[in-house]
Amino acid sequence: MIAAWVGGEMALVRWDDKYLVGNPDVDHDHRTLFAMINEFHEAFQESKKRGELIVILRRLVDYSERHFQREEAIMSAAGYPALDEHHAAHEKLFETIFELNDKLESDPAPLDRQTIAFLRTWLSDHVIAQDLKLGAFLREKNGQKLESKPES
Ligand SMILES: [Fe+2]
Repeated sequence: MIAAWVGGEMALVRWDDKYLVGNPDVDHDHRTLFAMINEFHEAFQESKKRGELIVILRRLVDYSERHFQREEAIMSAAGYPALDEHHAAHEKLFETIFELNDKLESDPAPLDRQTIAFLRTWLSDHVIAQDLKLGAFLREKNGQKLESKPES
């Protein structure tokens, strides 16, 4: 479980089982994304050097790219009807975090709280706003499967 308190301040994002989508790989990835964003936030709070923040963010960017690919493969295999729409949303999400990373690497201005707020919104736009629809779809699909093919 992600620590609720970090340096006397609340962790930026907190995992809750209500975010479970029902696919173990997707859920594992999402927990990792929560942890990575908290890691970035902690480093920011501890006033870690810019180079360290860049390393953490770079890792988050790489991980999110792989996660989106994994998630889309799972959606495709499950016959998820809104795959195209979700792919477009992933592209936009990736673009925004890539731009942030680019800005952090090229702009010497110190990081502000807006960046942190952006990451929180970025995560909730993805996991909460979009992937929960996948969760609903998978639940319905699995429910139907259980009804038509009871385990023997
Ligand atoms: Fe996701």
